[in-house]
Amino acid sequence: MDEHPSQLDPRDAAAVDAVVKQALAAFAAVQDLDALKVARSTFLGDGAALVTANRTIGSLEPKDRGLAGKNLGGARKKVSEALASREAVLAAEHEARVLVEEAVDVTGPTSRAPLGARHPIETLIEEIQDFFVSMGWQIAEGPEIEHEWFNFDSLNFDIDHPARQMQDTLYVDGTSVGGQSPQDGNLVLRTHTSPVQSHAMLERGVPLYIACPGKVFRSDALDATHTPVFHQVEGLAVDKGLTMAHLKGVLDHFAKAMFGPDAKARLRPSFFPFTEPSAELDMWFPQKKGGAGWIEVGGCGMVNPNVLRANGIDPEVYTGFAFGMGIERTLMLRHGIADMHDIVEGDVRFSQQFGLHGKGH
Ligand code: DAH
Repeated sequence: MDEHPSQLDPRDAAAVDAVVKQALAAFAAVQDLDALKVARSTFLGDGAALVTANRTIGSLEPKDRGLAGKNLGGARKKVSEALASREAVLAAEHEARVLVEEAVDVTGPTSRAPLGARHPIETLIEEIQDFFVSMGWQIAEGPEIEHEWFNFDSLNFDIDHPARQMQDTLYVDGTSVGGQSPQDGNLVLRTHTSPVQSHAMLERGVPLYIACPGKVFRSDALDATHTPVFHQVEGLAVDKGLTMAHLKGVLDHFAKAMFGPDAKARLRPSFFPFTEPSAELDMWFPQKKGGAGWIEVGGCGMVNPNVLRANGIDPEVYTGFAFGMGIERTLMLRHGIADMHDIVEGDVRFSQQFGLHGKGH
């Protein structure tokens, strides 16, 4: 019995030709190389009619074998050629389409904006704020354009006190006349963050524990160690019974937060109109470039009773301590930055070195 009732008879030229026509139509109909592969296996694969018919030739009458072989050979040649030419057309189309669809115009504008970076000064300010907030202190801010009264008078600078000239003040309007109230006198670009002490005492009252980071201005020229616009952080605590021991304790703790567990604070006698006694503030920096050592970071002291009085607080009942330090200077010391230009010029490659959360020490 014949296993394939529909088995193609290779002697039947018309039947063989019909298969060829079918194949050619199928090849012409497919639109991509994958579909052509399927059609190829249908008409030339192991189970294809032309292929299985070829295997029956041996069992034919010897006289019929020549005709059968000729029919099948011719048919397979036509199908193979049609396949090859269709494949060439589809491959060319595919390549042309890929060239268009996947083309990259390297001269076109990029859709990606270059990423910026957080400035390490901002990151350090945030770190400092976190430190004080972790002790339960509040963050306070004040205006950068300040009444002369807040910048100087409320802080016990006499009208002709040399300290007024000590800080190279940028006056916004006219000349300094000083005054007895915020309404008198001129506007200045604040020369330190200390006026925020005064705002906070007047607005928040006592007890008061605040840290005030911010921008300050002096008429210095920009060089490797100075910049006319820089940052300070001010600390102020006013409460009953505060002493210099509390000040020293806070500063030791702060030194460790800034410069590591082996750091500590040291006070050297000094003078500021707004503190009495006053001290220069040094911190011991174990990882200092060139060897551990003391570095000068700011000033501090017990709030002068005149300052408490000027800001509505009774110095017979309350005492306070305060400190102020430069943030650029701290950043430069902590990270071995030799030139202030790097901090102020805003080259993103400088900021990128510090990452989003600052660089450990
Ligand atoms: N305001 C001072 C300055 O800019 C720094 C300072 C010194 C702040 C002593 C203080 C302080 O609060 O107690 O040089």
